Amino acid sequence: MPIARVTRRVHFCAGHRVYNSDLDDEQNRSIYGACSNPHGHGHNYELEVTVEGEIDPQVGYVMDLRRLKGLLEDEVLADLDHANLNVDVEWLADVVPTTENLAVAIWNRLAGRIDGARLASVRLWETERNSAEYRGG
Ligand code: NI
Repeated sequence: MPIARVTRRVHFCAGHRVYNSDLDDEQNRSIYGACSNPHGHGHNYELEVTVEGEIDPQVGYVMDLRRLKGLLEDEVLADLDHANLNVDVEWLADVVPTTENLAVAIWNRLAGRIDGARLASVRLWETERNSAEYRGG
């Protein structure tokens, strides 16, 4: 059977401060610049999740994207949309909320929850120009 990848794109709004509490304010400012301003700022994130698998010969799908949509809504967007990523989300505790760290955390959140297909990629767009992709490993 041919193997294909299918992608669902979703959107959420969230606030964060890129800040590592193991470092002092000056070190944070030096590394993260304005991204570590004390009161935080927001982003309109775009999240693309890709799964890979054999195309079901009868149905013609790798995975029903309605199922992936539901999974993303329940496991990711319900927690992240309109949240402060530094304080509101249990599964982001102790994660410095950079785009790449968030992509890894979202991967870990989804891994093992997808039946019949393999999680292949999590790409998170923080701005129209900046994104990070995690493919496991
Ligand atoms: Ni930011």
